Amino acid sequence: MTEVKAGSCAVVIVAAGSGQRLGYGVPKARVPLAGQPMVLLAIRGVIKTGVAAQICVAIPPDDPQLLTICQSAAAEAQAKGIVFSVVEGGAERSDSVAAALASVAEGVTTIMIHDAARPLTPSGVFNRVAAALRDGAKAVIPALAVVDTIKTVAPATLPATGAGVEKVVGTPARSVLRAVQTPQGFDLDTLRQAHAHALTLSDDELAAITDDAMLVEALGEEVFVVQGSTHSLKITSPTDLLVAEALLEGPLRPRWIEG
Ligand code: CTP
Ligand code: MG
Repeated sequence: MTEVKAGSCAVVIVAAGSGQRLGYGVPKARVPLAGQPMVLLAIRGVIKTGVAAQICVAIPPDDPQLLTICQSAAAEAQAKGIVFSVVEGGAERSDSVAAALASVAEGVTTIMIHDAARPLTPSGVFNRVAAALRDGAKAVIPALAVVDTIKTVAPATLPATGAGVEKVVGTPARSVLRAVQTPQGFDLDTLRQAHAHALTLSDDELAAITDDAMLVEALGEEVFVVQGSTHSLKITSPTDLLVAEALLEGPLRPRWIEG
C-alpha cells in the first residue's frame, strides 16, 4: 500500500460518467475545453491547490485514450510529490467514488470528492473546504445561495381535459436553500462508514442519494457548508460548455474573477 505523510488529504476526481446530457459523443472527461480535455483541466486545478497529497481519478473502464490523458498528468503531480493513481469507475457515481476509496494511501485522514465536470473550480473553494476539515468538521460542502424560486411538485391532471401535468405542492423558503457543488470534503473514516452504511440501503433509497454528503447525512453526522463559486459550475449541457469556454479564454475572463 502506498504511503503518504500522516494526516494528509486525498482528492478523488470522479470522471467515469458518459456525458449523456452534453451529447458530445465521447465521455465527458475527454471533451475539450479551450483545447484541453476536461479531466486534464480538473487534475491540473487540483494539483495547483496544494491541498492534495494524493490524487485518484476514476475513469470509465476500457477507455485507453482517457487513461493516456490521465497518465500525462501523472508526471506533473509526481513532480509536486503527489501520489497519483487511476481507477476504473462504476455504473453510478457512488460506485466510482467507492472504487477510488479502495485505493486511498496509508496516512490519508481527510478526503475530498470532486467532479471532473467542474474543471474551473477555484483554489479558494478547495482551501475553504480544507480549512473547515482542519477546524474539526467531519463533512463539508461548498454551496451557493439559489437565485431561482424552487417549488416541489407532484403529478396532476388539468380539470377540463385531464391532461397530465404537474402541480405545485410546496415552496421552501429560498433563504434556506443552497445549490451544492464539489469538492465535498470528509474525514476519511466517516466517508468510509457512510459508504458501508449505503450497502444496507434499498435500491430506491440509493437512487435518491445524489451526492456523498447525503450518505453522511444518513449517518446523522453534521455536514457543514462553506462558500462555493460560480466558477465551479458543473458542465452538464452544451450551454455550460459555452459559459466555461467564455470563463477560460473568452469575453468573461477579464471581468469575472471570483475565488
Ligand atoms: N461520474 C462518475 N461515474 C459515474 C457517473 C458520473 O465518475 N458512473 C462522474 C462524472 O464523470 C462527473 C461527475 O460524476 O464528473 C458528475 O456527474 P454528471 O455531471 O452527471 O456526469 P455524467 O454522468 O458524465 O453526465 P450525464 O449524467 O449527462 O451522463
Ligand atoms: Mg450523470
